[in-house]
Amino acid sequence: MESVKIRKANPSDRESVLKFCQNTFSWGDYIDHVWDYWLDEGHLFISEKQIPVGMCHAFYSENQVWIEGIRIDSNFRHQKIASQLVRHAENIGKEMNAVSCYMLIDVENSPSFLMSRSLDYDVFQTWNFYSLEPKITTNYDVEFEKCLNRKLYSQYVKSWRWLPIDNDTLLSLYLQKNIVLSGTGNEQSLAILSASDHFERTLIVTLFSNFDNSTLQILSFLQNYSVKNKYERIQILTQEKLPIFNSLEYRISFNLMKKSLV
Ligand SMILES: CC(C)(COP(=O)(O)OP(=O)(O)OC[C@H]1O[C@@H](n2cnc3c(N)ncnc32)[C@H](O)[C@@H]1OP(=O)(O)O)[C@@H](O)C(=O)NCCC(=O)NCCS
Repeated sequence: MESVKIRKANPSDRESVLKFCQNTFSWGDYIDHVWDYWLDEGHLFISEKQIPVGMCHAFYSENQVWIEGIRIDSNFRHQKIASQLVRHAENIGKEMNAVSCYMLIDVENSPSFLMSRSLDYDVFQTWNFYSLEPKITTNYDVEFEKCLNRKLYSQYVKSWRWLPIDNDTLLSLYLQKNIVLSGTGNEQSLAILSASDHFERTLIVTLFSNFDNSTLQILSFLQNYSVKNKYERIQILTQEKLPIFNSLEYRISFNLMKKSLV
């Protein structure tokens, strides 16, 4: 089999990569929106067989690797190109002393799921994605929280990456009033807010929903918060099934896949 070279992406790869990333999914793809951002961030990897035939991006934080945007040209699949890209990203993580590696896979994407299983990833958690429309509301009972039990809340979603909540992150979330709480004791629900880095006017919410009433308070707050802060879209990621609430719409579920690197 002709060998595949893995290298860092450069700006001139954009056109050839986007050519095979146009109709990846039934709804298209999002790589064109994130390409420049990932290129600037670094760790955007290309598989090349004279021309680019695959890509993936990795984000290294504290002691974890986040792998995203794995795409293989449909003419070059089943040649272990994705597997090599993932291993490449993992190996860099090991050199940086990362202890685990994560990726997010749509529960209906069996090729990707089987690929991750073949590389020893396990389902760590399953997350549901809901959308909610901004709306002026007045009736909600929430508070802003400054500390978190990090055994319960160890990661949050930032631009569709599940990232660790370290001390600096916690401080910045607190200072920006991005930790929202409703209810008390076992009936408490909590949301962590962040603006999407890639999509304009999009609020991304990690929601830990423990009780319907406190969740409904948070949903109502989110609608009003979005109007006030000019967000046009609210994307909610939660492990729970949410109660019925006006414009709240269930979209899809994802498996958060995890592999230990040690
Ligand atoms: C999923 C995807 C990245 C796999 O790329 P690939 O280079 O063909 O994967 P590999 O050759 O490394 O596959 C490794 C293993 O994964 C599994 N696998 C990959 N594609 C599969 C498929 N279509 N059906 C069943 N198993 C599959 C197999 O176990 C395979 O090993 P095998 O060939 O020895 O049976 C590719 O199909 C793709 O780009 N899909 C569209 C984009 C996408 O879904 N990206 C992932 C988003 S999370």
